[in-house]
Amino acid sequence: MSAPLLCVVGARPNFMKIAPIMAAWRARAPQRPALLLHTGQHYDESMKRQFFEQLQIPQPDIDLGVGSGSHAVQTAQIMLQFEPVLERVRPAAILVVGDVNSTVACALTAIKRGIPVVHVEAGLRSGDRSMPEEINRLITDQLSARLYLTERSAFDNLLREGIESSRCRFVGNVMIDTLHHHSRAALPLAQIPALAQPQRQVAVRGAGHGVVTLHRPANVDDPQVLRRLLETLNQIGRRLPLIFPLHPRTRAQIVQQRLESLLDGETLLPVEPLGYLEMLGLMRDARLVLTDSGGIQEETTALGVPCLTLRENTERPITLTEGTNTLVGRDPATILAQVEEILASGGKRGRAPELWDGHAAERIVDDLLAWLDRGDLPL
Ligand code: UD1
Repeated sequence: MSAPLLCVVGARPNFMKIAPIMAAWRARAPQRPALLLHTGQHYDESMKRQFFEQLQIPQPDIDLGVGSGSHAVQTAQIMLQFEPVLERVRPAAILVVGDVNSTVACALTAIKRGIPVVHVEAGLRSGDRSMPEEINRLITDQLSARLYLTERSAFDNLLREGIESSRCRFVGNVMIDTLHHHSRAALPLAQIPALAQPQRQVAVRGAGHGVVTLHRPANVDDPQVLRRLLETLNQIGRRLPLIFPLHPRTRAQIVQQRLESLLDGETLLPVEPLGYLEMLGLMRDARLVLTDSGGIQEETTALGVPCLTLRENTERPITLTEGTNTLVGRDPATILAQVEEILASGGKRGRAPELWDGHAAERIVDDLLAWLDRGDLPL
């Protein structure tokens, strides 16, 4: 029996990326073992269980259960617990996705044990080194033997950093595979029990709804910045009710800073983190989405829904040039002007970027199987 591929997930945005890869692997190489390891970086039920169920991800073979901590603590805990797993499982390679702490921690542990690293969603760069994810991307790509790219601009970033193009493959976007696969099962607002109260508010206003997500440290950790953003969202909510699934980090900051009164339940409607099918339906039917998430910039582009990104930069430039995304930063006047523009004109139309066609995972698995079969893999 050949040595297994060991696939790693840790945090919510990893789940939508691993699902189509594991499904394609099972379909194309049913005899070859692939194991799933969850680091436990995200552990709340709302951030984990419903994704495994809805996306039909197999239960993890290994769960490290590391939980929260400072970046150093979290990264170190994952490394400490991942190393003995590598010793026991002896995988042919590990596959990591995205840019979370689990991605870099497992990549670093594996290469130090002489195990090749495969990185899915490689080469994205915001150019902003104050973002923890940017550091995770830079390091993971340097450590990877095989790199799969979602957009062509990633090639330039990797070449500039001295990574050989022979290691890189442009394959499209696995997150969009998941979106295509589940689009028919996306839940309309009226069928989401968790949204009963917001639904009533939205129905009363009769103007449709918008969606907001916020969780980046740069937006939620500084009380002044968070207050100003919530005030701006409140103002937008008077024009268009905004449904706001709250990330645990954001909820904790709002409570700590005593900003709950800004989530009045009429203009800005807070709800618990939603499952994938609920979130997909909510975004699909929205008139606009305001976010600081990376994945949502891509998903709104695929859905053709206007997206305003509350950041100064993006590592996903194709969502700006071809998709429906616009960077608006944090200035209230700029954000409000862009919202008015979208409400008046419907916003950017956009088109599906190259190879965001629902088949990226199949391309990855085909290439990966051939690569693994070469034997004597480079590090
Ligand atoms: C992480 C990723 C980010 C990704 C995001 C999606 C890193 C550096 N960041 O950020 O790229 O966009 O996930 O959600 O890996 N918490 C809970 N329950 C959980 C998970 C987190 O309560 O299940 C709280 C904890 O207080 C924790 C805080 O949220 O300290 C932050 O969690 P963490 O996983 O460190 O980073 P995220 O902000 O979720």
